[in-house]
Amino acid sequence: MAEEFDWVELRARASEAATHAYAPYSGYRVGAAAVVDDGRLVRGCNVENAAYGVVLCAECGLVSQLHLTGGGRLTHFVCVNGAGELIMPCGRCRQLLWENGGPALLLQTRAGVRTMREVLPDAFGADDLEEADSHG
Ligand code: THU
Repeated sequence: MAEEFDWVELRARASEAATHAYAPYSGYRVGAAAVVDDGRLVRGCNVENAAYGVVLCAECGLVSQLHLTGGGRLTHFVCVNGAGELIMPCGRCRQLLWENGGPALLLQTRAGVRTMREVLPDAFGADDLEEADSHG
């Protein structure tokens, strides 16, 4: 039987990532952690800026680390605030996760483990661009 995925460990790694957040404006730290299909762990923390609108969510750093360290597909993802509580990725970051994990990516949420397809229904993705290419 396949071993149970260790969500407790992944969440602990996300909580640790949140301790590195640079969030002097909101005071709201976020940490994200994910497993890649080759077993790598990638993480991110939010990084704010005096020009509030250009804040980098924790997921942005995570996706950058994914590509920086060899690419691949995200398989398991968790995101927490500074208190270690599970939070949902914002709308923009759901799109980033869709791009890099696809519909089967698993997320640990307060409502249990859910797929990306469930948390971003009717997603727009790369397939839509291909369709546009063939249909003009
Ligand atoms: N934040 C994230 O890092 N990820 C999310 O998915 C939600 C929001 C950050 C952005 C900002 O630094 C702080 O949380 C408050 O919105």
